[in-house]
Amino acid sequence: MDIKDLMEMDKKLIWHPYTQMKDFEKRDLLFVDRAKGVYLYDHDGKRYFDTISSWWCITHGHNHPTIMESIRGQLGRLDQVQFAGTTHQGPILLANRLNELLPKGLEKFFFSDNGSTAVEVALKMSFQYWKNKGIGQRELFVSLEHGYHGDTLGTMGLGGVPAFEGPFDKLTFDSLRVAAPYCYRCPAGQDKYEPGSGRSCDLQCFHILEEEVMQRAENVCAIVVEPLLMGAGGMLCYPPEYIKKLRSLCDKIGAHLIFDEVATGFGRTGKMFAMEHADVCPDFLCLSKGITGGTLPLAVTVTSEEVFQAFYADYSEGKTFFHGHTFTANPICTAAALGSLDVFEQEDVMSSVVKRSAFLQEEKFQLLELPIVGDVRGIGMVAAFELVADKETRRPFDSTKRVGWQVYLRGLEKGLVLRPLSDVIYLFLPLCTRKEEIEFLLYQTASTINEVSMELGY
Ligand SMILES: Cc1ncc(COP(=O)(O)O)c(C=O)c1O
Repeated sequence: MDIKDLMEMDKKLIWHPYTQMKDFEKRDLLFVDRAKGVYLYDHDGKRYFDTISSWWCITHGHNHPTIMESIRGQLGRLDQVQFAGTTHQGPILLANRLNELLPKGLEKFFFSDNGSTAVEVALKMSFQYWKNKGIGQRELFVSLEHGYHGDTLGTMGLGGVPAFEGPFDKLTFDSLRVAAPYCYRCPAGQDKYEPGSGRSCDLQCFHILEEEVMQRAENVCAIVVEPLLMGAGGMLCYPPEYIKKLRSLCDKIGAHLIFDEVATGFGRTGKMFAMEHADVCPDFLCLSKGITGGTLPLAVTVTSEEVFQAFYADYSEGKTFFHGHTFTANPICTAAALGSLDVFEQEDVMSSVVKRSAFLQEEKFQLLELPIVGDVRGIGMVAAFELVADKETRRPFDSTKRVGWQVYLRGLEKGLVLRPLSDVIYLFLPLCTRKEEIEFLLYQTASTINEVSMELGY
């Protein structure tokens, strides 16, 4: 079937995620025909740099031969089987390898198939833990404004991005959402913290959270955060000390700490897991996206022996965790995950990531010279540029101007997929992105933003 017919059929039949379909009334979606390494290729063979790692999941580039080989090795042997009452090799080996990578205290692995379910599992486990322990009043989850944990009704109960959750307010549970460590717009009015500068603020924003939490300390079930990098809320980066303090606070009040590392896990922040920057261990860790190198859907929620023991009882005691998904621990997906861990080991990926991250984090500041770039932030292989109407006052653009969207369209012409988060343009790079490619991307991103700013009259 030719491309024109396919595109017409798409318009007739398909409703795409996070997309105002009317935007494509007179414009085509980008048709991706194939991918290799850091590039996507359209039907004409034009290549596009996958600057956001295909929604933050591709780790070693597309179609990495080691992962493909691991998947191929599984095909034809065991394709799918329910994971209740049965087991198979992939998830056992995977849990064992993850166990070696994770700190002591994270040793029980519950599989599911996407980031939202990884978080939902943590929420339900934490909630039921307190019931199983006979501590009925701990029912309150604490999360951060600008936080994002998925699109299911459960995870939206924690979300702090009004555009996503607004219409569903009445359907989601109430959590205590507190001011986030959004350093460019510090809720405590302090100077901006700069990761890697060796300088930290004294975390006045944490005291705001602490005060609110302490008022309801006995009711808190768990505090849930994306450690160090809040992705969908605008790639907000905050100091490692913040999560250290969170750990102490949870210990003090006896509540759980949940780290949602769905986006930050598997090397993206310059360490295998973001929590390693602070040497902090949560009670629950949620992983997905990069777990398979981004090739296939898989997720895991990891918790402690102590939590597990609160559910381990005679059936008649009613303490079983009744939760599961059809494709839990799918054999082909777990084979992909094992392949991805092989790549980490065989290619010593994290050593290269440390060097590449340092380069990106240093060079990203060039873009601060552009007239509409108000803030530049980043960690590891992530760099973000917040566009503002007025740099002096940090006034945002009127959202109806859709400045980020204009940058996106202009970027496509240059072969970049700069899918924005509102007016935040960002690079969320595959770990295999080389130094010369980073240099090129920063240059191209700057020139794209510059062209749009000139059109806006700056
Ligand atoms: C931090 C975080 N948690 C959860 C999710 C949800 O993952 P999924 O889209 O696989 O449901 C995302 C997705 O972007 C995420 O960034």
